[in-house]
Amino acid sequence: MTDATSGVRTDAVRRHDPSLKTFASDNYAGVHPEVLAAIALANGGHQIAYGDDVYTEALQETFRKHFGPAAEAWPVFNGTGANVVALRAMTAHWEAVVCAESAHIHTDEGGAPERTAGLKLLPVATPDGKLTPELIDRQAWGFGDEHRAQPKVVSITQTTELGTLYTPEEIRAICEHAHGLGMLVHLDGARITNAAAALDVPLRAFTTDAGVDVLSFGGTKAGLMFGEAVVVLDPEAVRGLRYLRKSAMQLASKMRFVSVQFEALLAGDLWLRNARHANAMARRLAEAVRDVPGVEIPRPVEANAVFAILPGDAAERLRKRFRFYTWNEATGEVRWMTAFDTTEADVDAFAAALAEEVEFSA
Ligand SMILES: Cc1ncc(COP(=O)(O)O)c(C=O)c1O
Repeated sequence: MTDATSGVRTDAVRRHDPSLKTFASDNYAGVHPEVLAAIALANGGHQIAYGDDVYTEALQETFRKHFGPAAEAWPVFNGTGANVVALRAMTAHWEAVVCAESAHIHTDEGGAPERTAGLKLLPVATPDGKLTPELIDRQAWGFGDEHRAQPKVVSITQTTELGTLYTPEEIRAICEHAHGLGMLVHLDGARITNAAAALDVPLRAFTTDAGVDVLSFGGTKAGLMFGEAVVVLDPEAVRGLRYLRKSAMQLASKMRFVSVQFEALLAGDLWLRNARHANAMARRLAEAVRDVPGVEIPRPVEANAVFAILPGDAAERLRKRFRFYTWNEATGEVRWMTAFDTTEADVDAFAAALAEEVEFSA
């Protein structure tokens, strides 16, 4: 069989309906066509494996353009890997990481920080997924006490797991506080592009310029096939990253294909176009469903996540037509995510289906 788009012979068979969209997660989306084209561009011939290729070299300059001259990017496979490698490189074996109770590292990484890096997490309950200097102090204590894992890193997520945003000033206040305590700041940026687009500021405004030491840069949700990067903003904040990335099984041998995807995303404005679009689709969705009787949108819609509570069995009925996750089993709160490829028609179809299911719900 010959692929109609590329003209290349393939024995693979398309097994899904490419017009079908869900609101489950931004990583349900496919690969942005500009990223796919970049992968093809990097194909052919041989390049040095394990990161000594021309694409990974060029990528350093691209990350420096966004994050300043001290930035160093370490491409990895996935977000859990980026977080684990970053945090491991920032801590000694007796040190600990303060994070929000809702942080992905605490709730959604299968215990990888604890299991694979031996990290002690010190979680703090937050109303909206955001830490503050006061909340950090609930766990940042016991310095010098040999009975307590020594708090060393504050890890924040931007945008947060609850769809909320830190302002650059809020992150600066966290960094000043953490640094004042002799601690470092890590930012889980699985959705960092959505955050910059929503805040309408450059990526460095709430990272480098706010005092963040190390971040996990999310590529997958932004339109890549796969790939994230640990971005070191303060070289003094990490030790042994080169070795830790390998021992954490995050060193890609054909790294050129991760790096060229980031080039496609970050060298121009693809990252911003994708993020602005995903955010706009979330706003459209919230507006479309807000006035449906019985529907509650309990959290602010600040980037590309919409949280909702639906009446009766409407969520279960709607889920038969569109896939999405329950966020909180106790309250029945659900989460809808939009992506770079969510269209206005997708949103409108989903909102119309929701209105129907609410009307018929028990
Ligand atoms: C906040 C956050 N951090 C990190 C990740 C990356 O996870 P993964 O290991 O699935 O790439 C995700 C993905 O859902 C996330 O939402």
